[in-house]
Amino acid sequence: MEATIRPLAANRERLWGYPMPPVYRPARPEDLAASDALVVASINELTVRHGFGPMAMPSSPNFQLFSLKDDPDGLWLAEEAGEIVGFAWSWVCGDVWFLAQLFVNPARQGQGIGNALLERTLAHARKSGATHKALITFTFNRVSQGLYIRHGLFPKMPVYFFTAERERLRRTLPQVPLRAVAIDNSAATMANLGAIDCRAIGVSREKHHRYLFDDPAIKGLLLHAGNDLVGYCYVGVNGHIGPLAVKRADVLHDAFAAALALAADGSAEKISAFLPGTCDSALSLAVDQGMRISFPMLLMASPGYGDWTQYLPRNPGFM
Ligand SMILES: CC(C)(COP(=O)(O)OP(=O)(O)OC[C@H]1O[C@@H](n2cnc3c(N)ncnc32)[C@H](O)[C@@H]1OP(=O)(O)O)[C@@H](O)C(=O)NCCC(=O)NCCS
Repeated sequence: MEATIRPLAANRERLWGYPMPPVYRPARPEDLAASDALVVASINELTVRHGFGPMAMPSSPNFQLFSLKDDPDGLWLAEEAGEIVGFAWSWVCGDVWFLAQLFVNPARQGQGIGNALLERTLAHARKSGATHKALITFTFNRVSQGLYIRHGLFPKMPVYFFTAERERLRRTLPQVPLRAVAIDNSAATMANLGAIDCRAIGVSREKHHRYLFDDPAIKGLLLHAGNDLVGYCYVGVNGHIGPLAVKRADVLHDAFAAALALAADGSAEKISAFLPGTCDSALSLAVDQGMRISFPMLLMASPGYGDWTQYLPRNPGFM
C-alpha cells in the first residue's frame, strides 16, 4: 500500500508543482515511537539553531500511550505518503486542558501544519469541556508563541530548566525540616495527592499520580512537617525533580530543599528541575546552590490560569 502511495504523491508534486496536503488523523499506539522520533528531531533542530545545543533524547513513549488509552481524542498526526510530518498531543484533567506536544518536521514548518494540528487538539479541549488551557513552550521560539496567542493562549510566566552537578549540591545543601515518606497507591494517599494538586494547580491529577507510581524510574514522596502533610515531590533515578506541589506557598522552599537532598542522595551525576518564575523561594535556593539555567521555557495559558506559586512541573509534556 505504502509503495503505491509514494509514487502517486511524487507524481502529483511533479504535475502540479506543490506537495500533497498532509492527511490529519488520530494517532494509534503503533505511531508513538515514530512520533517521538519526530519530536526529538524537531526539538533538537530548534535548540541547536538557537545556540543551546541538543535538548532531547529519544525515550519510550509511555506517557503518550497512557494518554492515548485514557483519552484518544487528544493525539493527532499529520502524515504525508506514510511519513509522520507533525504530531500534537493534549491531555485533560478535570477542567484543565494541557498541550503536551506540538511538533512539525523542520522541513515542513511554516506551511500551516502546526496550526491544523493545534485546531484538532483545541477541539479536544472544547469536547472535554475544559475551561482552562495551558502549555509550556520555548521562550526563544517566536513561531510557537505567535501561533498560541492567535488561539487565545497568552504568555504567563517563564519556567526555567535548572541543572547542577550532584557532587556540588551534596556539599552545600541546607538541613531540611521536612520528613519524606514513600507514596503508596492506596486510595487514601491518592486522594491526599489530588487534594494537594487542587490547592496548587486547581485540579486533581490522581490518574497521573497512578501513572507515576507505576514507573520504576521515579520515586514519589509525601512531605510532612511534624504530623502535617504539606506536599509531595517526585525524584527520578536520572536526578530529575518534579512534579512537586505544596499546600501553601510558604513551604515551597523547604519542599524543594527536601527534593534536592533526596536527588543528591541518588547516583545521577546531574540534578535538574523546572522552576516557574513565580516560585521565588525555589529560584533563590537553586541559584544559591549553584544551579544553572540551561533552557528558558514559558508557560502560556488561557486568561486567568497559571499562577503557580506552589507547583514545580515535571517537564513541558507532563506539566
Ligand atoms: C511551533 C510549530 C509546531 C508550528 O508549526 P508550523 O507548521 O511551523 O506553523 P504554521 O505554519 O501552522 O503556523 C505558523 C504561524 O505562527 C505564527 N508566527 C510565525 N512567526 C511568527 C512571529 N515571528 N511572530 C508571531 N507569530 C508568528 C503565525 O501565526 C503563523 O501563521 P501564518 O504564517 O499563517 O501567519 C513548529 O514550527 C515547530 O515544530 N517548531 C519547533 C518545535 C516547537 O517549538 N514546538 C512547540 C512546542 S510547545
